[in-house]
Amino acid sequence: MSDVASVSAVLNQKGGVGKTTITLGLAAAAQRAGDPCLVIDLDPQGSAGWAMGVEASDDHLSVGDVLRTGEARVAEAATVTSGWGEGVDVLPSSRNLIDREADPRDKAATLRLRTAIEPMLDRYRFAFIDCAPSLGPTTRAGLAAADRVLLVVELSALSIRGAEAVLDMVEDVWSDVNPDLDVGGVIVNRAPAVSVEAQRQEHELNRLMGKRAVWRPFVPQRTVLNEAVGERAPVQALGYRSRDVNEVFDTLYRKLVRVTARASQ
Ligand SMILES: Nc1ncnc2c1ncn2[C@@H]1O[C@H](COP(=O)(O)OP(=O)(O)O)[C@@H](O)[C@H]1O
Ligand SMILES: [Mg+2]
Repeated sequence: MSDVASVSAVLNQKGGVGKTTITLGLAAAAQRAGDPCLVIDLDPQGSAGWAMGVEASDDHLSVGDVLRTGEARVAEAATVTSGWGEGVDVLPSSRNLIDREADPRDKAATLRLRTAIEPMLDRYRFAFIDCAPSLGPTTRAGLAAADRVLLVVELSALSIRGAEAVLDMVEDVWSDVNPDLDVGGVIVNRAPAVSVEAQRQEHELNRLMGKRAVWRPFVPQRTVLNEAVGERAPVQALGYRSRDVNEVFDTLYRKLVRVTARASQ
């Protein structure tokens, strides 16, 4: 096992598909496994940080300052222990993140996040980058800093079309600044009970991504996930009602561990 955290960018260009929910679910699974992790909140809405008990504030150092400076000491100073407890840290977002977006062709700017977080990565087993629903320069910087993309989709035509645009961007970042970037897997969120349309979209997804890239199990729609956000707590803090989603995310987390082990061989 490598002793430097493996970095996953959780991505889809579409909003509301569950990027933040999957990021939080995997971070909660890491916490249950006793593995230290870092969540980097690259969405100016700051939902991931908020759900982890951290405010996005323009007064405190944030990932926006990291993107601007590329300095390790800024990343270090901006990173805080989350409200979930020791071992789960957050590099928070700021509302004005997008104002600072760089020119997408500026390679140095694209690589600043990566350079700045690299020295911290030996403290964690995993880092998760919760991306904004955009394929702009900030998301590009997220991809430049990542070892893999975890693509979040719903079984709908629009969500899967969004995935195609993401694949194009991954290809572009891969050839431009990050030859180690890989699509690690596709996580299906809010899978409905059997429906003809969902099945059709599942076929389409398998065709587009390759069946093995689509991770199992699918994440079901569960109110307990919303409640955890409202409580600003990891889902397991909600007790027995979280049991089935915990199992789903534990299985997805183990898959991530396996994929990472294979990649570092
Ligand atoms: N599997 C799920 N079960 C219940 N609610 C969900 C699920 N996935 C997402 N949601 C809810 O849907 C909304 C959008 O999800 P979110 O993760 O914020 O999407 P994104 O980060 O892609 O914009 C949130 O209110 C979230 O709590
Ligand atoms: Mg989000």
